[in-house]
Amino acid sequence: MAIIETDRLILRRFSPDDWKDLYEYLSKEQVVRYEPYGIFTEEDCKNEAVKRSSNEAFWAVCLKVNNKLIGNVYFNQQEPKEFSNWEIGYVFNPQYYGNGYATESCKAVIDYGFKKLKARRIVAMCNPENIASWKLLERLEMRREGHLLKNIFFKRDEMGECIWVDTYEYAILKDEWYGL
Ligand SMILES: CC(C)(COP(=O)(O)OP(=O)(O)OC[C@H]1O[C@@H](n2cnc3c(N)ncnc32)[C@H](O)[C@@H]1OP(=O)(O)O)[C@@H](O)C(=O)NCCC(=O)NCCS
Repeated sequence: MAIIETDRLILRRFSPDDWKDLYEYLSKEQVVRYEPYGIFTEEDCKNEAVKRSSNEAFWAVCLKVNNKLIGNVYFNQQEPKEFSNWEIGYVFNPQYYGNGYATESCKAVIDYGFKKLKARRIVAMCNPENIASWKLLERLEMRREGHLLKNIFFKRDEMGECIWVDTYEYAILKDEWYGL
């Protein structure tokens, strides 16, 4: 897995030592609210850092100034592989919101995906209530292609009932990204 460098950031593979920085954000309810998982314990983060260190889909996003890991971008090829469709996702530490770091890192991963990984189409999905997420996708100039109604659930209520949620689907083609 290569290293991607931007003006302010280094994107690299995770290492097991990253668990503390992961814990700083994955332990927060506000961060995992729209994710398919709940908050992580320290133990969960230790295991997760080990798992991610051998998974090329997870890019650790670090500040150049001090090497602090401030979030992650997920970028994974979908099946069937011959469609060359990739999915992007992102989770950042709230202490670093509002600085354009997620935008800067996603732009770099998208560019890397189209140029180096031969992606043809990149998609993203988010809950319409997750405004920060779809605003990011629109800053990336991805197109909202669908609003699926109550198509999925990640969590259950206190009675054990599924909490069905809507999904926005976004996408961008390689030619669109490069303005061809
Ligand atoms: C989704 C998430 C990454 C967005 O974070 P974010 O801080 O809003 O996004 P960015 O880092 O790109 O920062 C953009 C903000 O910084 C501002 N900004 C400041 N400097 C900037 C710069 N150089 N470039 C771009 N934006 C900049 C923008 O105006 C924008 O602020 P606004 O929303 O008030 O207009 C974050 O909310 C998150 O991690 N959420 C929890 C996990 C999650 O829900 N993930 C998505 C699941 S689908």
